Amino acid sequence: MKQPFQNWNCWLSVILWWLLGNENGAVMTRNSRPNIVLLMADDLGVGDLSCYGNNTMSTPNIDRLAREGVMLTQHLAAASMCSPSRAAFLTGRYPIRSGMASSFNLNRALTWLGGSAGLPANETTFAKLLQHRGYRTGLIGKWHQGLSHASRDDHCHHPLNHGFDYFYGVPFGLISDCQPSKTPELHRWLRAKLWISTAAAALFPLLLYIPRYAGWFSVPWKVIVSFALLVFLFFTAWYSSYGFTRRWNCILMRNHEIVQQPMKEERVSSLMLREALSFIERYKGGPFLLFVSFLHVHTPLITKKKFFGHSKYGLYGDNVEEMDWMVGKIVEALEQECLTNHTLVYFTSDNGGSLESQDGAAQTGGWNGIYRGGKGMGGLEGGIRVPGIFRWPTVLEPGKVIDEPTSLMDIYPTLSYIGGGILLQDRIIDGRNLMPLLEGRVSHSDHEFLFHYCGVYLHSVRWHQKDCATVWKVHYVTPKFHPAGADACYSSVLCSCSGDVDFHDPPLLFDISRDPAEARLLNTDNEALFDSVIKKIERALREHRKTITPVPQQFSVFNTIWKPWLQPCCGSFPFCGCDKEDAP
Ligand SMILES: *[C@@H]1O[C@H](CO)[C@@H](O)[C@H](O)[C@H]1NC(C)=O
Repeated sequence: MKQPFQNWNCWLSVILWWLLGNENGAVMTRNSRPNIVLLMADDLGVGDLSCYGNNTMSTPNIDRLAREGVMLTQHLAAASMCSPSRAAFLTGRYPIRSGMASSFNLNRALTWLGGSAGLPANETTFAKLLQHRGYRTGLIGKWHQGLSHASRDDHCHHPLNHGFDYFYGVPFGLISDCQPSKTPELHRWLRAKLWISTAAAALFPLLLYIPRYAGWFSVPWKVIVSFALLVFLFFTAWYSSYGFTRRWNCILMRNHEIVQQPMKEERVSSLMLREALSFIERYKGGPFLLFVSFLHVHTPLITKKKFFGHSKYGLYGDNVEEMDWMVGKIVEALEQECLTNHTLVYFTSDNGGSLESQDGAAQTGGWNGIYRGGKGMGGLEGGIRVPGIFRWPTVLEPGKVIDEPTSLMDIYPTLSYIGGGILLQDRIIDGRNLMPLLEGRVSHSDHEFLFHYCGVYLHSVRWHQKDCATVWKVHYVTPKFHPAGADACYSSVLCSCSGDVDFHDPPLLFDISRDPAEARLLNTDNEALFDSVIKKIERALREHRKTITPVPQQFSVFNTIWKPWLQPCCGSFPFCGCDKEDAP
């Protein structure tokens, strides 16, 4: 481990700081309110990092954070898909409480930037808490919590409306269609043709309003409505073949302004890194909160040429190693600004690696180690067990490994605690302050029960006994894998949360503390024990269910469909497009 104040510049700046004072008046105050850098990967598997046991992947920078900090080995996302998991991460609450959990199998993450769904304005994120405590807050990268609600520019769900002072990144997320090779550019003559035919088709029903022509059509309104719909479909179908999703969803923004539409995917990582480093530089006087939400390692795995062939695992591995390099750059910037000792750095992933993500024979999704299942499977370990690393040199003991159940929802109360905030009393916070556990003041995690949802459906429950180290896990519902005998849902790409699932009555019981791979079913081992564990869990589940109150469903069909009037657009709708970033 690097010693604190190893380099002379840092000594000098600390001495100057003592002499001249600082914004908060005293070094101790400064130390007690650290800067916070949160690093979140997209769909990274817990088995992809060498510090989590992958001996053939090279992730030296993330390993270094683990070596210099505390590593959690039972760190759990509240959902196995990005939008709900991130909603829970930001708010410290199960996604079902904010309406950010879906009851459908298809729409489980937001599908259109031009939809009206998103993190409701009455939810409070950790960014908002810290902003109120004087932190400068920035989000660089993926958001995926919605954008507008009623009109194109209301930006009701925008990061700047959720406690961030600065936003640079993609309000949606990376999807395969962001790659131009998958969706060719719209050529000028095609655009012209599309304009003319759309206008002509759309004008046609207007004839009905002109009395002279109205007589020509003795048609009922139903037919007219279906006709209008047909026009719409025609328009959608044509446009979608020429960059519809790419143009609509793959955009880059700075605060409220669109800077690239569609984004130039090969540049976006460098731009993000530039922004992250300049945020640190700008606010090094602190305290600041920087949330770097990587587009890595989601498909289409946009990777710089420099990293091609870097790993042993094709493009996927190269992309992981590129992200590790970016982590290194950010950590290095903290070091150069002498901020290492007053900065809490956290690294995690929003959900488990996607097993079904494959391109021909190549695996393009992550590896979840010994854990069963992956992304999209909310009740299975592989879907929710993710890396969790905290480094805060002067406060946390380096090299410590903690195997207690913890959640991504814990970040909210933890940051509130270290940022000097008071938790809101008007709502249920499901996360727990992690500092006592991380600092070693307690050895038992504060989570007695964790409820594992798949969309709005409860699939499994974890019971961490208060009086001993045993952690039970009970499955009520598990996904149906296909083809038969497979370990994931290869035929449908994403497992279902309801419908095509297996119900278990009696539920399946595992001791996850001794058998983390859930290989040994305990249902028939000891009947008395089985009954008492199930009873205890059922009672907790009943209590938990009482606390769930109805809220507007963000993932309803109406909220998630694409609405032209909400589509963020740079230029003249529907031909949105611009590039305001300087040439490379
Ligand atoms: C390391 O990660 C790669 C890429 O996800 C995976 O294919 C491989 O099985 C992992 N190896 C180990 C030992 O976990």
